[in-house]
Amino acid sequence: MKLAIIIGTRPEIIKMSPIIRCCVRNKIPHLILHTGQHYSFAMDRIFFKELDLEPPQYNLKSGEKTSSNQLKVMINNIKDILVHEKPDIAIVQGDTNSVLAGAVAAKNLGILVGHHEAGLRSHDLNMIEESNRIITDHLSDYLFAPTKEAVKNLELEKINKLIILSGNTIVDAVLENVKFAKKNSNIMTQLKLKKKNYFLLTCHRAENVDSKDRLEAILKGVEKAGRKYRHYKTIFPIHPRTETRIQQFSLKVPENITIIKPLGFLEFLQLEEGAKIIFTDSGGLQEEACILKTPCITVRDNTERPETLKDGMNILTGADPDKIETAVEDHMKRTTVNWINPFGDGKASERIISTLTNQKKLPV
Ligand code: UD1
Ligand code: UDP
Repeated sequence: MKLAIIIGTRPEIIKMSPIIRCCVRNKIPHLILHTGQHYSFAMDRIFFKELDLEPPQYNLKSGEKTSSNQLKVMINNIKDILVHEKPDIAIVQGDTNSVLAGAVAAKNLGILVGHHEAGLRSHDLNMIEESNRIITDHLSDYLFAPTKEAVKNLELEKINKLIILSGNTIVDAVLENVKFAKKNSNIMTQLKLKKKNYFLLTCHRAENVDSKDRLEAILKGVEKAGRKYRHYKTIFPIHPRTETRIQQFSLKVPENITIIKPLGFLEFLQLEEGAKIIFTDSGGLQEEACILKTPCITVRDNTERPETLKDGMNILTGADPDKIETAVEDHMKRTTVNWINPFGDGKASERIISTLTNQKKLPV
């Protein structure tokens, strides 16, 4: 039994890290194939270093020259490696171009495909991620659905393959790292932040940041919320795509929003745990906010993670400054946050690996 673990972007490295560690612990032969879709130190190598992962055996460096045929190049290059390495199963996670390329390449060679984070649906086909995840699910042989909602989505689409309610490995990754992060990160001191006395913002979705109007509206909403609660400033670790767009659109970032470079996972977990509210359009952050019980506002029109909206943990506002302001008021009124994390018990990676290696199934 040999596994090919295919990754390409920041969230895939973080969410695959518990799976990689599980392979190492159980001495399961595996190789790490990195498409290199993300390549800057702060979006890539920092996570291997922090999470103590072996370097990938292969890096296709397909992100440095982004082009319209990125997908085609990735598929061809992944196929060459899979032909050479002959794994039994290829495993992908999430909904990026790297995920789709990995699934297509493996399937084309008759290699079994496992998809972690199967069954998520935003029902918005304008998002490239939605078509990536639908196609990947329909190609996969093992579908690791993080929640019951995700299982239901797969059943509705009549995907007649092995569907496993596994939980999401992000819970494993957060639990494995949150205590360590507290001991080893002094980011709060560095940024002179007090717990629950600041907001945190991330924004990188193409539909938000490639539109000047939407990006401007999001910044305006966050600025207004910050002004209303005067002692709160907003920390904004900036994704490279967003940094480029702010420059291209000549947007002025409001003074109460502090831009910093993207952070490593340990520092970032600290900021998420300490924040009064997280504003985001990230998939991973909506999950982490629930796990860490930090109120979240998602500046998108829809979410493929509807579980997070239960009991008001996460509020959808789109890119509407007034809705953002109202959502902040709602969160500020809360006195208790007795939310239940819907993404599992931190044993998703064990379930995934034991299923793939035909060991005993863990109860959910
Ligand atoms: C990709 C995923 C998105 C995911 C996000 C996670 C697709 C279609 N999109 O979006 O689903 O939520 O990753 O962060 O797969 N860049 C750098 N350094 C890097 C990486 C990117 O400078 O390490 C810049 C490049 O100019 C690049 C741009 O960011 O052109 C966008 O990168 P790309 O990988 O195409 O998409 P993301 O926006 O990162
Ligand atoms: N993250 C990080 N540093 C940052 C911003 C995010 O380590 O400066 C982590 C975050 O904790 C989460 C993941 O990156 O685990 C989310 O990645 P991103 O938002 O880029 O992608 P998405 O989840 O939307 O696909």
